[in-house]
Amino acid sequence: MPDLDFATQNTLYATHGLHAYAAKCPPPLVKYGLRYYSKPGETILDPMVGSGTTIVEARLMGRHALGYDIDPLARLIAQVKSRAVHDNHIEEAYKIIKRRCEKDVIALRTGSLTSALRQRATPPDFPNRDYWFDMDVSAALSILSYHISNTSMPENVRNFFWVAFSSLILAKTSVANARDIIHSRHHYWQHSEPPNVLEKFATRMRLMRKQMVEFQKRCRTIPNTVSEARIGDARQLKLRSETIDMVFTSPPYATALDYPRAHFLAVAWMEKALGFSLEKYRAQAPIYIGSERGRQGDGFAIDRQLKRLDLTQSVVTQLAEESIKQAKHVQRYFADMYKVFEKIERILKQFRHAIIVVCPSHIRKIEVPTHRVLAEIGRSHGLKLKNSYSRTINLGKRILPYMQEAFGKRMDTEYVLVFQKIS
Ligand SMILES: C[S@@+](CC[C@H](N)C(=O)[O-])C[C@H]1O[C@@H](n2cnc3c(N)ncnc32)[C@H](O)[C@@H]1O
Repeated sequence: MPDLDFATQNTLYATHGLHAYAAKCPPPLVKYGLRYYSKPGETILDPMVGSGTTIVEARLMGRHALGYDIDPLARLIAQVKSRAVHDNHIEEAYKIIKRRCEKDVIALRTGSLTSALRQRATPPDFPNRDYWFDMDVSAALSILSYHISNTSMPENVRNFFWVAFSSLILAKTSVANARDIIHSRHHYWQHSEPPNVLEKFATRMRLMRKQMVEFQKRCRTIPNTVSEARIGDARQLKLRSETIDMVFTSPPYATALDYPRAHFLAVAWMEKALGFSLEKYRAQAPIYIGSERGRQGDGFAIDRQLKRLDLTQSVVTQLAEESIKQAKHVQRYFADMYKVFEKIERILKQFRHAIIVVCPSHIRKIEVPTHRVLAEIGRSHGLKLKNSYSRTINLGKRILPYMQEAFGKRMDTEYVLVFQKIS
């Protein structure tokens, strides 16, 4: 059995460290999968691409890559991380943005306000804005976002700035009045002094540019391939049948993960950049796979599609004896994953592989063996489980976005399921 723990390996090379994203997959694990189950020039799909680990690795290994995520911020991050941006272009635009921002902030401090500046410094209106953001921070973020939006530059460079911008908010030490926003249940935390947004932005830019330069250097030695991240729902992928050489994905967990709750503080400032209003963003939170939001209807019955799956049914029935609410929630997760597997099977070429990285959990002291349930679901779609490897999650490196108590037990083992299409 291969050692897939990668405990001592650097996982933040190239652009992998560009953005803190909850439950990122370790790059060496993706590399392992791509090396053994695909060849250069082939096309890899990640239907729940998150911050883009799969498509970055695919690019670094000379594969074409396509990623989908329902979350527009994830899509943006994945896109930026997987496509090289020339540092000269970043530098050129950054010089202008920096100068304009500094001028505005000084004018704001000295009270020499014009009506145009007042407008640039006016933050967007969203619920609890002044609770989460100090007034000075809000003004600086507004000015920065204005100049990112309105300085002339190529779109890929602008997107790079937006990723840097979002990383000021979605961070362990955020400029918002919150700690650890990447964990889904962040709590209010007052800074002793309002953080200096522009200084923090400069620090982020220095680091990100270094990472992008490294990524670009590595890409230069590899034949150019296409990598694209799109907004899309993994349950409804509209790709042609049998066009994908390999799938690699780490789906959301069955419990307690709420990406929109973590991301909304950044999305509120980036509506235009994302092409998504905050209202629309929040409204679609219940349709994320694994979301605990949304009405589940009254009563409880086994899902029609899952009825012929013995293990799946027994796990859900056992849960229902303890908590109908939890049983419905977990059943919805499995029903969603059933649809995802259906799509994977359709778009995958004959005899090719799909690698799914999942974590089992404990809910109300009942074991939810997600890895075994997904193996059963895969089988029911004609995907044979060829290998199942367990690996230890390096809790120090991986940002786990949920509360341990939701799982009842320390979650440090995940499973790497290797499926092969045989039908
Ligand atoms: C565990 S994360 C993936 C992390 C990724 N492997 C990485 O390294 O960054 C799971 C992702 O699934 C996405 N997701 C949830 N529901 C989805 C759906 N219906 N379709 C596509 N993506 C979805 C979430 O937005 C989240 O980004």
